[in-house]
Amino acid sequence: MILPIVTYPDPRLKEVCTPIVDVSPEIRQLAADMLETMYAAPGVGLAAPQVGRNIRLLVMDPAGKEENKRPRVLINPVLHFSGEEIVSEQEGCLSVPMNYRADVKRWTEVQVEAQDLNGHTLNEHLTGFEAIIVQHEYDHLEGILFIDKISRLRRTLYDSKVKKWLKRKNAV
Ligand code: NI
Repeated sequence: MILPIVTYPDPRLKEVCTPIVDVSPEIRQLAADMLETMYAAPGVGLAAPQVGRNIRLLVMDPAGKEENKRPRVLINPVLHFSGEEIVSEQEGCLSVPMNYRADVKRWTEVQVEAQDLNGHTLNEHLTGFEAIIVQHEYDHLEGILFIDKISRLRRTLYDSKVKKWLKRKNAV
């Protein structure tokens, strides 16, 4: 089932999410729905707060809509950064309106420890595009959007654009 995506400035996107204690059938269904929602958007990652659930669950697939899908579900992920800091170019987010994009500082390598849908612990070393996606999605679990990481000037300009856009949208 495709779920509605929560968008900025919804306050639910600012909450720190709570750990998942039990990987229940309901959580497995939510993960499946989140993957379906992500592919349909289309996007390469989606975190639970983006569908209104403030729990520590994210899904990702760097292949996006391509044929060879490589879906990943991470429950209660913990990240350790390494490598060097780079600028991920033109990052965007399904929860950030108007298809806004900006450059964001990210680490080149990430060690991820998480639980999978069977409740097993997984340990993975992600690099490149996957490393950037997991950092972006993890931030959602901490109530952080990529627009929280851009310069104050850019953010002010973006916020005023969104305000006008929301006014127009609500006037229709
Ligand atoms: Ni996002």
